[in-house]
This record gives sequence, C-alpha cells and structure tokens, in this order.
Amino acid sequence: LKHFLTLDGLERSLLTDILDRAEGFLGVARQAVKKVPLCRGKIIANLFFETSTRTRTTFELAAKRLSADVLNLNISTSATAKGETLLDTLRNLEAMHVDMFVVRHADSGAAHFIATHAAAPVAVINAGDGCYSHPTQAMLDMFTIRAHKGGFEGLTVAIIGDVLHSRVARSQITALNTLGVAEVRAIGPSTLVPARSEEALGVRVFHDLRAGLRGVDVIILLRLQHERMDGGFLPSEHEYFHLFGLTDKRLGLAAPDAIVMHPGPINRGVEMDSSVADGERSVILEQVSNGLAVRMAVMSMCIGTQNLWLHAAGQQPP
Ligand code: CP
Repeated sequence: LKHFLTLDGLERSLLTDILDRAEGFLGVARQAVKKVPLCRGKIIANLFFETSTRTRTTFELAAKRLSADVLNLNISTSATAKGETLLDTLRNLEAMHVDMFVVRHADSGAAHFIATHAAAPVAVINAGDGCYSHPTQAMLDMFTIRAHKGGFEGLTVAIIGDVLHSRVARSQITALNTLGVAEVRAIGPSTLVPARSEEALGVRVFHDLRAGLRGVDVIILLRLQHERMDGGFLPSEHEYFHLFGLTDKRLGLAAPDAIVMHPGPINRGVEMDSSVADGERSVILEQVSNGLAVRMAVMSMCIGTQNLWLHAAGQQPP
C-alpha cells in the first residue's frame, strides 16, 4: 500500500489480506507481545484537525507497538492558529523526515489533498474526512463482524441512523458489499437516509425501524452528526429515540444471535438504551480493541518491513 485513503475500488482480496494481517497482530495489540520492530526508525505524525478519542489514541498506540516514533500535532496550539497553511505545515514536518501522516479533517477530500501534495515516499492514512471516508474504522468493524460471524456470506447487516452525513457508513457499506454480504440495509428517517441511497450507496432503504430490523445478523448504530447538518427537517433527539432508538424489545426483532455495534461516540438514550449499549449482544468496546490490530496492519502495510511482518505473524519468509 502507498496510501490508505478510501475503500472505494479496493479488491476483496486486499480487504481480506488486511483482516488476516490484523489477526497476526492481535497478540501485540493485547500485549502478550509488547512490541514488534516493523516500523523501527520510522516517524509517524498524527494530524487531527477534528476531535477524536478512539481513532487518535489507537493510531498512536498502534504506531508505538510497531516501534515507530510518534508526533501528535496539537492543531489548536500549532502554528495553524497563526495562519500557517496546511501545505506549509506539511513541508515543515517533511523537513523532519516524517514517513507517514495520519490525517483527520472536517473537510471531505482533505486526506486526498495531503496525499497529492506530500513528498514521495511519505504515506498518508485517512483517519476520517468530512462525510466522505473513514476506511480504518470500517476495516476494524469488518474485523469484529468476521470474528463473531466467521465470515460475510449470507449476512444481513442493518445500519441505523444518520447515513447521509456519515463517513463511517459510506466506508462500511463499501466494505460490506465488497466482502460479499447478502444485504446491507440503511434504516432511518428520510431526511437522514434518502431513498436515493439505494442506488447511490448500494443499500436497501427502510424508513420503518421494525421492518428493517427483522432477521438481521448485525446491527450498526450511528450518531446524529449535528456538526455536519445544514438545516432541513430533522427529528428532535427525543423523537429520534422514539422512532429509531434501539431498545431491548426492538432488538428482539433481529436474529437471536445478532450483534450490536457502534463506532462511537455513543449518545445513550438517543441511538440506543444503555441496557443495549452495555448488554451481552453489544460488541462496541471490542470494536475499539480491534482497532489497534487493524491499524497496526494498515500502517505496517504502508511503511513496515515485510519480512519482519512475516516474523511477527509467526510465518516464514518465502
Ligand atoms: N469512531 C471514531 O472515529 O471515534 P473518534 O471520533 O473518537 O475517533
């Protein structure tokens, strides 16, 4: 991999390769092995122009477990606040011989812009840009689904909530369809799940929660992304919960072994009841743990040392 910006256009075999490599890193992610030297001597800069808890910290931990040196640029206290352009910031970090930028930005396309302008061989990973793409989140979600369901064939997956503004949903839908699930359902009010999503995104749209939930194997809940909404009629949080919030009773409509997922941050009492978030079908915190192994896999595929990876995964070099 040169960069990891989007899942659009990637082959099923590559997505499966990332998941398989992440399996090889579970021991390191769970601290059975403290560190592997795959990225020793590499410098990874986290450039987060938008808030994050899970993504930024797991990227930092993953880089450290790969033995890289990590720079966390605090954008609010950086020279960006004095008017320095994004490109000048990049050039200055490149002068410090940074090998990889991990980028989160509120504008769709920001990670692609940085990848276009970064000096070769600097690699860029998209850690979430606007409404467009969040590829490592989708891959850690696929990892979690595969761990619980054994694969993707025949699965029906329901994504409930603000699909319209969700970069996570876009990347998840691409990954699920590429990996060959039977059906992806998008459930929510028409203002957040427009009917055109069927053709545009490759999903089956439901505006009725009960109909959409029937028999599904995986339920993915999404936050209402108020920061990306620009008017239009939207239900209040109270109305949203009444119509689309997941409760234990509504969960009973799904398959008996259905799992409940959420990329976080969750809003209890809006997307779901606390009893569901903390219930036995919830794999929400597993998603976070799996993020570490998946991010180690992606970073090492971009800038790691191949033979050392094989060693870490317990395989012999060819
Ligand atoms: N899922 C996710 O991107 O969470 P953060 O915003 O905390 O990184």
